[in-house]
Amino acid sequence: MKTILHIDTSARRTDNDIQEFNSISKTLAAHFMDKWMTLNTEDEVIYRDIGLNPPEYISQDWIAAVFTPDESKTDEQRALLALSDTLIDEVDQADIIVISSPMYNYGMPAALKSWFDQVVRIGKTFTFDLARGDFPIEPIMSGKKLVLISSSGEFGFEIGGIREKMNHLGPHVKTASKYLGVEEFYEIKSEYQEFADERHENSLKDAYRDIDELVTQLS
Ligand SMILES: Cc1cc2nc3c(=O)[nH]c(=O)nc-3n(C[C@H](O)[C@H](O)[C@H](O)COP(=O)(O)O)c2cc1C
Repeated sequence: MKTILHIDTSARRTDNDIQEFNSISKTLAAHFMDKWMTLNTEDEVIYRDIGLNPPEYISQDWIAAVFTPDESKTDEQRALLALSDTLIDEVDQADIIVISSPMYNYGMPAALKSWFDQVVRIGKTFTFDLARGDFPIEPIMSGKKLVLISSSGEFGFEIGGIREKMNHLGPHVKTASKYLGVEEFYEIKSEYQEFADERHENSLKDAYRDIDELVTQLS
């Protein structure tokens, strides 16, 4: 039995009267999860919609609390870190993390960045040791897989694509997730949403096909 941590991050919902207003990334992730649970009926799912309920931004006091040794933390500091503790616990439980994300301004939505800031935490998800030389940071957890399901209005963000250098979504998620113990990274993209033409339809179709294949591969 595996545990899947499913995190949606788009500000859009999936129950709008007008279908075009619905989040593509959330709809695709829901398809991934449906397919996954059909093949892996015993698995457990932890779900968060941080697009609709974003985690708080970290603050000066939050950072001070993180760097205060556990035995010296005040009740106030513990309370300030409670959400971070919960979110880290969810990551810890997860074998597979499924994140759906829109591309906003060529990167991840603020809610997802806020989630990463809450969960990538010294002493909890990574250690820092200058004895390691130029790369002092190492993850504490290991063996996790991450599936990023993304949607963008434009296209060509893949390696070799016409907007490769403008893509700060997948590469950023991949880099940061290493410090959550992610060792295998997969990305499925739907593109062309803003063009609303046949290329978008084909891109969506390809994304559904890629999801079906990836679920089979990872199950
Ligand atoms: C605030 C905002 C910023 C966006 N920035 C970009 C962008 O930089 N590049 C891009 O290709 N599309 C951009 N888009 C289009 C979205 O990526 C596209 O609508 C996508 O389908 C949104 O994901 P969702 O359908 O899951 O909500 C942006 C949309 C919004 C609302």
